[in-house]
Amino acid sequence: AWVDPSSYPSDGNLSEEEEEQLRSVLRKRAYEVWISEIMLQQTRVAVVIGYWERWMERWPTVDALAAAAEDDVRSAWQGLGYYSRATRIHEAAKLVCNDPVLRGLLPATAEELEKKVPGVGRYTAGAISAIVFGRAAAMVDGNVLRVLSRQLGILGDVKTDKKVIDTLWAAADALVKAVAWGNDERREEGEPPLSDRPGRWGQALMELGSTVCTPKPNCSACPVTDTCRAYAEGHALATEAGLVG
Ligand code: ADE
Repeated sequence: AWVDPSSYPSDGNLSEEEEEQLRSVLRKRAYEVWISEIMLQQTRVAVVIGYWERWMERWPTVDALAAAAEDDVRSAWQGLGYYSRATRIHEAAKLVCNDPVLRGLLPATAEELEKKVPGVGRYTAGAISAIVFGRAAAMVDGNVLRVLSRQLGILGDVKTDKKVIDTLWAAADALVKAVAWGNDERREEGEPPLSDRPGRWGQALMELGSTVCTPKPNCSACPVTDTCRAYAEGHALATEAGLVG
């Protein structure tokens, strides 16, 4: 059954048993998304899938990972590179399991995730908060920086220009809040529930950036050229030069 993650923590609205059930679902989802997002930071999706599936078979829960031997964790990471990431995940698993408040469940807000969980930076914190906990948190990776830079016409070097990067993060923050906002009663048939939107929105931007809005973009396949500032301006220039009708 679908469990609304935004009902956690329930602030006493749920019975102890219901709250524990909710925690158990979220504990599993948070662990799965956390591992996948760390793996995806350095490796393509197609390669990660096999690693992730073997990892989950071997250590299906955060408690299992916390109890694992360091050497086994490192060898399971072999081929993914940057072994310090595996070591930090292992350390973080022990910390999260031994914390009397967390009890194996990652925190729900991006702020706490970044502060409390070793190896979780701004991007991963946003991804876990939005995808697992349904919070309006931005997840901005290199692909998303490029997509938003073009859409909003905030142009510059999205790899190095700190001012541009900060501006795009701020824009992503505002946009994901707008996406998450709304009246669930007016939700159309088949539309995802509100708490699903931040995660879907962020992942859709990443997908767009990795498949269509690539460094050499394929604008003719893009579903959002009508709102794209770079497209409009580039198109106007091309028209003026007689390159398109
Ligand atoms: N790359 C890294 N994490 C991703 C996600 N959750 N969705 C799509 N692409 C990703």
